[in-house]
Amino acid sequence: MDTLNSPSKKPRNPNFSSGPCSKRPGYQLHALEIKTLGRSHRSSVGKTALGAVCDKTKQLLGLPDNYLVGVVPASDTGAFEMAMWSMLGVRGVDVFSWESFGKTWLNDIVKDLMLPNVNIYEADYGVLPDLSLTDKRNDIVFTWNGTTSGVRVPNGDWIPTDREGLTFCDATSAVFAMEMPWEKLDVTTFSWQKVLGSEGAHGMLILSPRAVERLENYTPPWPLPKIFKLVKKGKLIDGIFRGETINTPSMLCVADYLDALGWIDSIGGLTGAIRRSEENLAVIADFVSKSDWLSFLAQDQNTVSNTSVCLTLDASPDQIKKMIKLLENEGVAFDIGAYRDAPPGLRIWCGATIEKTDVKLLIDWLEWAYESVVRGGKK
Ligand SMILES: Cc1ncc(COP(=O)(O)O)c(C=O)c1O
Repeated sequence: MDTLNSPSKKPRNPNFSSGPCSKRPGYQLHALEIKTLGRSHRSSVGKTALGAVCDKTKQLLGLPDNYLVGVVPASDTGAFEMAMWSMLGVRGVDVFSWESFGKTWLNDIVKDLMLPNVNIYEADYGVLPDLSLTDKRNDIVFTWNGTTSGVRVPNGDWIPTDREGLTFCDATSAVFAMEMPWEKLDVTTFSWQKVLGSEGAHGMLILSPRAVERLENYTPPWPLPKIFKLVKKGKLIDGIFRGETINTPSMLCVADYLDALGWIDSIGGLTGAIRRSEENLAVIADFVSKSDWLSFLAQDQNTVSNTSVCLTLDASPDQIKKMIKLLENEGVAFDIGAYRDAPPGLRIWCGATIEKTDVKLLIDWLEWAYESVVRGGKK
């Protein structure tokens, strides 16, 4: 019997991590516009760059005119926690959680903020909780795309248009990859290192007019640290939403983010970015439909993520680890193991910065690794 031959071609870019995610095709560090480096972020060049971050994000995402976009500290976590700490507590809260990040927000609400009136809707990895249970009088806290289970909400139809509460949406692995119904989203956060393949460190906070109203009319009973403060004397600190950041940002990260936005523009904007991601998913979906050993962790087709694609295998956890190691050693795929708290499996990032041709080549290598490790490497 012959030993199984490895595929002849490797993906050009083996970076399939779900965060930080791959840089865009053609990325070159030296091509960044770095005239802001070594300058004050409050200088006119600094402010112009930070203002452009807010304006270009708003324009590319097609946000409603009356929505605000700001840069805040500590990546998505900073943005989301700042929002929860600043605005929750005035109403009951419906928390929907179905994987690790949703669980983090749930723990914050129950164990740290210790809010009294919380409805918990939880589901295991692979499924969504029953979203229809939401109560329009309550605030809603949820994650648009569960990065660690590859399960996303299919749309925002379940969010009441006439809601009295606010929606808080952690959309870090969804923004620039999925259509978002902005009129249903009052507080949305994301970070630069996901779909855009930019850098960690700073978070984006998107607010609807109703979120601003909450901020200006509600003072939480707990103290807020300076880096969470969005309001001064009952008024929104609106400079934050023009690039006057709360504290010092990394201007190198800012330059990198602006480069990423320029690339999004060059591929046809939001529509182009979503298309690339969906085409990447389609390559995997096609293989899954024919495979007798690979399945989506997401049980419902409508909830399969097109960014963090989570897969289960007909293999033991040890065999899966061996496959991942083998692919890494071959320089074919880096960081494709399932999240540490998720069921053993693979997680393949399919956001816009990934090339479809690379996903296709990766599939050949996955088959090869499975044959080699699980089926014994003989044919
Ligand atoms: C859904 C989701 N929420 C929050 C986070 C945390 O993001 P950050 O590390 O940018 O704070 C991540 C990171 O993977 C994520 O995928």
